[in-house]
Amino acid sequence: MKILGIETSCDETAVAVIQGDNNEIRVLSNIVFSQINLHKKYGGVFPELASRVHLESIIPCIKASLEQAKTGLGNIDLIAVTSGPGLIGSLLVGVNTAKTLAYALDKPIMGINHLEGHIYANFVDGIPNQIFPAIALIVSGGHTCLVLIKNQLQYKIIGQTRDDAAGEAFDKVAQILGLSYPGGPAIEAAAYQIQKAKRKRQNLKIKLPRPMIDSADFDFSFSGLKTAVLYLVKQLQDGRLENVRHEIAYEVQRAITEVIIKKTIKAARQYEAKSILLSGGVAANAWLRREFELTIKKLKIKFFVPPKILCTDNAVMIAIAAYFKSLKKQPSKWYDIFADANAKLT
Ligand code: KG4
Ligand code: ZN
Repeated sequence: MKILGIETSCDETAVAVIQGDNNEIRVLSNIVFSQINLHKKYGGVFPELASRVHLESIIPCIKASLEQAKTGLGNIDLIAVTSGPGLIGSLLVGVNTAKTLAYALDKPIMGINHLEGHIYANFVDGIPNQIFPAIALIVSGGHTCLVLIKNQLQYKIIGQTRDDAAGEAFDKVAQILGLSYPGGPAIEAAAYQIQKAKRKRQNLKIKLPRPMIDSADFDFSFSGLKTAVLYLVKQLQDGRLENVRHEIAYEVQRAITEVIIKKTIKAARQYEAKSILLSGGVAANAWLRREFELTIKKLKIKFFVPPKILCTDNAVMIAIAAYFKSLKKQPSKWYDIFADANAKLT
């Protein structure tokens, strides 16, 4: 079956076409129009601007996606759209476009939870046997969430951030350090300057907190880390930030990585998980991916992480989720789909 996926929950207008048959996925197109350059000057996503740009770009993105997939709307069997959580103005553009297509073409439609989409990005090569119960960790700009998945479509949130999301921490620290937006890739690049120089790594002095790393629950907190960086930078004399910017970035990346790996593994042990499914924009971070792989290698737990291109927001993940859900659940009619900014993973 051919599925058209639409994702507009934040600042990426994304449309994809996949072919799903016999538990196998083929990605036929993946169009992501990122608005990052437009939001850069605000240091974060400006919601009003995001919805306006989605409105302008959604039709060109659908056209480009169908063209790349060498197909037409008539060949689409199912329309999948992110229905929440996200920015309401942004969600409405995707949801109303998808509903209009479903109505006009008389096609079935599925509303997909954005977090569920991130999780399903792990299944671009199909769902392997014996992976449930699984622990999913979604680390993005808007979420840091540990989810117990007992079986397909059975979710239980066991931990989440109490303040900033991990991606948000990367973004805010980057801003404090005078690095570009989005902060994740900028911090990763700055930290790499330390990683590649063994000599520099031996003389590191900056130490930042690992908030809640040993707490009994599975919650997270990253705002203290951001504040610690803020105070550190304030204490520096003029010009000294230049000397330690890379070192701070390296330490921030390590602190965030250590906290999320430790808590995820603790959750996996406690719930006797057979696998860990990492996802979300922060999962594109090479250091985090490698540290996870190295740590899990020693345990009897399978580890999955999507290709980097499917970690940040995209519509392939929404279409994949719809494919596997459609094997277990009836799709809806256009009039049953609604945008919900605070949608919960159920
Ligand atoms: O999943 P995503 O595209 O959007 C949300 O659903 O929020 O995640 C975006 C977040 C941003 O905070 C960005 O800084 C972070 O993911 N990010 C990264 C990297 N690439 C994107 N964080 C760390 N390292 C990266 N390479
Ligand atoms: Zn996302």
